[in-house]
Amino acid sequence: MEGKDTAPRAPVLGIESSCDETAAAVLAPDGTILAELVLSQTADHAIFGGVVPEIAARAHLAALDGLARAALAQAGLGFAALGGIAATAGPGLIGGLLVGTGYAKGAALAAGLPYLAINHLEAHALTARLPGLDAAPPAFPYLLLLLSGGHSQCVAVEGVGAYRLLGATLDDAAGEAFDKTAKLLGLPYPGGPALEALAREGDAAALPLPRPLLGRPGCDFSFSGLKTAIAQLVAAEPPGPLSRPRAADIAAGFQAAVTDVLGDRLAHALAMLPEASAVVVAGGVAANQAIRARLRAGAARAGKPLIAPPLRLCTDNAVMVAWAGIERLRLGLVSPLEAPCRPRWPLEAA
Ligand code: KG4
Ligand code: ZN
Repeated sequence: MEGKDTAPRAPVLGIESSCDETAAAVLAPDGTILAELVLSQTADHAIFGGVVPEIAARAHLAALDGLARAALAQAGLGFAALGGIAATAGPGLIGGLLVGTGYAKGAALAAGLPYLAINHLEAHALTARLPGLDAAPPAFPYLLLLLSGGHSQCVAVEGVGAYRLLGATLDDAAGEAFDKTAKLLGLPYPGGPALEALAREGDAAALPLPRPLLGRPGCDFSFSGLKTAIAQLVAAEPPGPLSRPRAADIAAGFQAAVTDVLGDRLAHALAMLPEASAVVVAGGVAANQAIRARLRAGAARAGKPLIAPPLRLCTDNAVMVAWAGIERLRLGLVSPLEAPCRPRWPLEAA
């Protein structure tokens, strides 16, 4: 920021603990990744069919110190050599947020370092600007499609800390719809990857399924009606497990419906932000090949590149948190140690 030289001169430690991944990463001031570690708790939650907040918080507490120290060791640094510590402060599960921010604040206080309270959605939003990715960093403004287990949003990214929500889900997130549909089909949690694999065996046209909000003005999403349609289909089947071909047809039909809706919503979002330099996708659902291909085609039709960071940086990770910390440090946007955790923290308020 003009008149202020707060550009980080030393590496930044990032910490992510808002959901069911404990992650730590160390980035050089220019964004070079010096260390990145992710510990997934999927196995701890799988038998419950979803994330159990209390189990998640305890697992973060058990893992975080060792993980952060391992990341620092990987980078060949001690706390004293850092230029700042960034941690996800929201939105997310309060237990995990308290663990991550408490750790970051304690370490920042002890080492006399700046603390950066990072909005998790902002971290997803800025990942595409990390130098060294395949695609050149997009200039502001760009269109972000955030499609994760907890969020489905179209966002105009106009600058660091300048986000305008163009549309969002009215009910379930896209990943949540994948997970719930997968559960109905008897697939393991998290359902997205298993459902995508099963869909390859099926006929997407075998069943008529709704395309919620398709063609409607704006770029909001709605997925709960689609999930209900599938629940009704499954309930109408003979008792007992679904046959594999039948389950595959339902999976393929569901994925095709979501893909159609996302393609339509992208076109509407681009019409709302014609000056977008690029379309950026983030969140676990961006891993889906059919969806990725449709979004790439939709962006190309509007003459925009689609930037999809590598999968490990699309899903929850700490590299994105450290990078958001660097972007904020450059602008002098340091957080006070009293900065609270915010389980609900809309991106526009970041
Ligand atoms: O971004 P993410 O790792 O975590 C958060 O929710 O923050 O996203 C996880 C979500 C889950 O709902 C998962 O089922 C979904 O992303 N997902 C997929 C695929 N891989 C992960 N959905 C569809 N197709 C996939 N290949
Ligand atoms: Zn996320």
